[in-house]
Amino acid sequence: MPTERYISEELWRLEQNQVWKRVWQWACLEEDLPNPGSYVEYQVGDQSVLVLRGDDGVVRAFHNVCQHRGNRLRSGTGTAREDIACPYHRWTWDLRGDLKHVPDRDGFPDFDDACFSLNSVRCEIWEGFVFVNLDSKAESLLDYLSPLTERLAPYHFGEHTRTRSVTMPLAANWKTIVDGFLDVYHLQGVHPQLLKVLDDVNTTYELLGRHSAMYMPMGVASPRLRDHSEQVVIDELARAGSGFHGKLLRQSEYFMEEGGKASLRDGVPVRQALLEVGRIEGEAQGRDYSGLSDEQMVDDHHYFLFPNTVCNVYAGHFITARIRPDATDAERCYFDMFIFNWLSDEERSERRAARHAAVDEGTEVGRVPDQDFSALPNVQLGMHSDGLESILLSEQEIRVLHFHQVLDQLLFGE
Ligand code: FES
Ligand SMILES: [Fe+2]
Repeated sequence: MPTERYISEELWRLEQNQVWKRVWQWACLEEDLPNPGSYVEYQVGDQSVLVLRGDDGVVRAFHNVCQHRGNRLRSGTGTAREDIACPYHRWTWDLRGDLKHVPDRDGFPDFDDACFSLNSVRCEIWEGFVFVNLDSKAESLLDYLSPLTERLAPYHFGEHTRTRSVTMPLAANWKTIVDGFLDVYHLQGVHPQLLKVLDDVNTTYELLGRHSAMYMPMGVASPRLRDHSEQVVIDELARAGSGFHGKLLRQSEYFMEEGGKASLRDGVPVRQALLEVGRIEGEAQGRDYSGLSDEQMVDDHHYFLFPNTVCNVYAGHFITARIRPDATDAERCYFDMFIFNWLSDEERSERRAARHAAVDEGTEVGRVPDQDFSALPNVQLGMHSDGLESILLSEQEIRVLHFHQVLDQLLFGE
């Protein structure tokens, strides 16, 4: 693929029209809109959408622009008490988007209120996730998401609680960042620690219409490592801070630590211990894992929802990342990361809802994404080099290629 693809302003503008105004995008969660008047702004490129819960309880979306002289109506999140008043000249709309009041109206020529409702945007909800689409003629959300909805149904996303929410700006074209989440080929370079617990070599890939997936075996070390024995896996997972699987293993009744040496009782395989403790914990917490295969219980199943959302899915836990282009700069974007856990009622009541954190570029957000973000802005810089005209993709990077092919269909009808 030509490097031009990642720096061209012309292409970036074409994407604004041909991609971002035609695809379903995850804007917020239904729980972000608890009351009538609750709103969330969703920004993508130079477009801003206001998602608003009406006084009838219905969640709607509108272009976030005043119909008088174009002021942006709201930013961030908040709650409008009775109506949405534009801060500029105080034109006011009710919570369903209908024009309610125009100050000094007799100074305007006669006009029909209905022509000055807020401009609506398609808005549909799946499992508590609110999606918007700027194309009024778009297919339904469920048709767009298929077959991901069927694949994800047994995980019961709607039962999970968001426990972390963060946004960070990045110095890269949005596609550079998306690409960076679609392969495991970079683990040996960027995340070498993961090779001790994850088999990148035997990871499999699946193209799912416009979306895609990869299935990474967990609890087994990469055959790339000279020593990829069970002990390597156990030692890595025994380390506090080794993530979700480490926590699971350390809770396992098989886990033992003596004199600083970790082992599993009766030499039970790591994957079996992970599977058993996952099922036992699920049952104890009353979670329905009945639809999940043994692989889904243990492995890291990674989904890409075209064009900008990726998701690492495990039993009772998932991590999503969303990448959005900047409003004016082709070589900047926003990275949003959300962590979800299936909590017990008790845990949920003890835990205050995750506050959204907007952090500066370079802030540490987690070991694995920090490693990605120390690498990817340098890839963006490389796209300008006179020493490279195009990039080359291997079979392991088939999801990257597929992502760009689907993009091209929207951009050029190819
Ligand atoms: S721009 Fe909003 S009321 Fe004038
Ligand atoms: Fe990575």
